[in-house]
Amino acid sequence: MVEKTIRINERIRMNAENIALALENHMMTAFAPDARKELRLFSAGEAADLLGISASFLRKLHFDDKIEDVQTSAGGRRSYSADNLVTIRKQLDAGAKTAGTYLKGRRAGDKVQVLSFLNFKGGSGKTTSSIHAAQRLALKGYRVLCVDIDPQASLTTLFGYRPEVDLIESGTVYDAIRYDDPLPFSAIIQKTYFAGIDLAPAGLLLQEFEHETPRALIENVQPPFFARMAAALQEVEADYDLIIFDCPPQLGYLTMAALCASTGLIITVVPNMLDIASMAQFLQMSADLLDVVSNAGAQMDYDFLRFLINRLEPNDGPQQQVVAFLRNLFGPEVMAASMLKSTAVSDAGLTHQTIYEVERSQFNRNTYDRAVDSLNAVNDEIESLIQKAWGR
Ligand SMILES: Nc1ncnc2c1ncn2[C@@H]1O[C@H](COP(=O)(O)OP(=O)(O)O)[C@@H](O)[C@H]1O
Ligand SMILES: [Mg+2]
Repeated sequence: MVEKTIRINERIRMNAENIALALENHMMTAFAPDARKELRLFSAGEAADLLGISASFLRKLHFDDKIEDVQTSAGGRRSYSADNLVTIRKQLDAGAKTAGTYLKGRRAGDKVQVLSFLNFKGGSGKTTSSIHAAQRLALKGYRVLCVDIDPQASLTTLFGYRPEVDLIESGTVYDAIRYDDPLPFSAIIQKTYFAGIDLAPAGLLLQEFEHETPRALIENVQPPFFARMAAALQEVEADYDLIIFDCPPQLGYLTMAALCASTGLIITVVPNMLDIASMAQFLQMSADLLDVVSNAGAQMDYDFLRFLINRLEPNDGPQQQVVAFLRNLFGPEVMAASMLKSTAVSDAGLTHQTIYEVERSQFNRNTYDRAVDSLNAVNDEIESLIQKAWGR
């Protein structure tokens, strides 16, 4: 019997090693280590939309030499890098009647906005919606820090890092919140290829935080688990307008620590009855746990909590009923905009890209446009929640 167990264990380990090796090879060819990922250029139309001006005004700005030159094709077609957008936004704002017309980030006295995307159902779109929100808001000029606290590290992988190769021993959020000799948060922050976004990466090691917390509680290590993330983030929060947590699909100590550092919560939900039932359980458990930690002294004041419907199929009758049910139940807490289910989103995901990174020409135009429109609507609604939290 024992021998059989050992053999099976070895078999599993061998499979794991083979997968790790194959993945490493795949990643090496997909993204060479030095030339990791690179962000595409944006068309004049896209640039105007992101800057919040008309395409003709953008042309006039170039004509009048009010903004920096960008890459221009022989035919006169302009292409904008994300860095161009950052510079142009600053130039526009410097010339605007009121400062802050084009730079919408926080002003003196505004607190940093910390958003958690959560739900304990895997596959409800936490990672997908958090990275699209981060990218759209970065392109709109916000300074964003993405904090990946899922040991599975999907978000980290989407940014072109290889957690199973590069982040095995160190370099993840774990280093900044661990009980034994934590590093400053700044030590684990990575620049990303995406202008305006920094990343605090995840890796399997984060799981240690779940294992070590019970003992730290007994030994009364300060700060306690729920306050450690907020405390660690204090060092860097002045550098950002927005901090986004991509949470693991469970309500462990990591998620609780993110919840206690957050100012806004977005619960992603797929509109079918099984998912709703599991979400009800999740909310019940969250409420119970939040009671416990707030009695223990955790600060938990949220500017907003919203349900974000993901994978919406507008022509699916039963889904429509579930959506109506949710809107009835939660009213304005359900976001007005929903994320459509789209093969453009899942196909982009296959090459570790988002809808904002892929080229429109790679997709069926209607499919692409519908996906972009729905994600823009979702993220612009998130932006207005943030602006509202700053009292604008
Ligand atoms: N709106 C959508 N349309 C199509 N596929 C989606 C959509 N949202 C997420 N997906 C796909 O579903 C899978 C799980 O999504 P993900 O965001 O990783 O969920 P979670 O982080 O909650 O586990 C991913 O492969 C992703 O590409
Ligand atoms: Mg995820």
